[in-house]
Amino acid sequence: MQRTALRRPLFSSLHTTLVASISATLLATGGSALAQSAQPAPGAKIKVGFMLPYTGTYAALGSAIENGFRMYVQQQGGKLGGRDIEYFKVDDESDPAKAPENATKLIKRDQVDVVVGTVHSGVQMGIVKVAKENNTLLIIPNAGADEATGPLCGANIFRTSFSNWQPGYAMGQVLAERGMKKVVTLTWKYAAGEQSVKGFKEAFEAKGGKVVKELSLPFPNVEFQALITEVASLKPDAVFVFFAGGGAVKFVKDWQAAGLKDKIPLYGSGFLTDGTLEAQGTAAQGLETTLHYADGLTNARDKTFRTDYAKTYKLQPDVYAVQGYDAAQLLAAGANAVKGDMSRKPEVIKAMEAAKVDSPRGVFTLSKAHNPVQDFYLRKVDGRENKVSGVAVKALADPARGCRL
Ligand code: PHB
Repeated sequence: MQRTALRRPLFSSLHTTLVASISATLLATGGSALAQSAQPAPGAKIKVGFMLPYTGTYAALGSAIENGFRMYVQQQGGKLGGRDIEYFKVDDESDPAKAPENATKLIKRDQVDVVVGTVHSGVQMGIVKVAKENNTLLIIPNAGADEATGPLCGANIFRTSFSNWQPGYAMGQVLAERGMKKVVTLTWKYAAGEQSVKGFKEAFEAKGGKVVKELSLPFPNVEFQALITEVASLKPDAVFVFFAGGGAVKFVKDWQAAGLKDKIPLYGSGFLTDGTLEAQGTAAQGLETTLHYADGLTNARDKTFRTDYAKTYKLQPDVYAVQGYDAAQLLAAGANAVKGDMSRKPEVIKAMEAAKVDSPRGVFTLSKAHNPVQDFYLRKVDGRENKVSGVAVKALADPARGCRL
């Protein structure tokens, strides 16, 4: 009623009276009358916007994240905080140039309460920017862009995966402790590869190793041949790589085809062999990687998660499915605290910050910058599994350089 009167002030005296009375109310309530009118109707659905890659080299990663998320919600009877969940989806194509427009679609057009996305670090930067401008809750279910929980951290920005620095750092420590001295790195030339090499180098060189050459090719190119030849000519003690998804499948196969599998030890962050083993076959056997998830963990949560996932999707889960599942768990912590009223943002954020996420990877908490503090496992490929062989670094926290929260 009041809004209509304000838009169409046919009788100016009535208009003046209404304006005066609304102003008085706003003053008296500190603006809460207006805030209330923006609240969702009681019992309204919670709108979740998936911004994920559904095409391209990371397509399988996007769908595993969505699967994991939906499975957790299903296990809660389809509701979080007592509210039904309504999903919206955008294929981000792992294309950073389209990220601001895609994120804006979910936030402005679909009016989602939370964006869940994405996989690719470059796309993530665009989402973070738009989420910050609109103060929209964001849960990052994969992309490791260090900035998201570093210089661009924010009260509304959460991550249930890792920072690019983390798995790289863990492997740097492992190789240094094995007494390796001379390592060549090889990645796609974008944030995920570059930052994971940075983490690797920081740990490796602090303990006396040396990265003698950093090689790269543009994302998502898979013409690895010339670079593989160059690695071989450098005769390093080992190679550290970052590749994931379809590109990781091709790289591991090309490495074997070049005859290097038994000549130069190949290591990577665990994305190299996660969700990819069926396609990589014998080429992946014996590869060692570091990651915050592994096959063969013994916690009860992982057991039921794996059984349920296999039953629901007729697929084996991977790290991406775990991260999606945990994104839903983190959202549940926020939604439960406010009985589903996501407009109570400070309370949602407070509850999410305090959450102890009972993840299939093991229980984790969030750092002040909202990034998981978690164990990094050393894994070794055996058949179709990344079998856990130990903990490379316990409770590893990203340094969150530049984050002021
Ligand atoms: C990233 O771009 O941050 C990224 C992509 C795929 C992964 C890991 C990190 O598996």
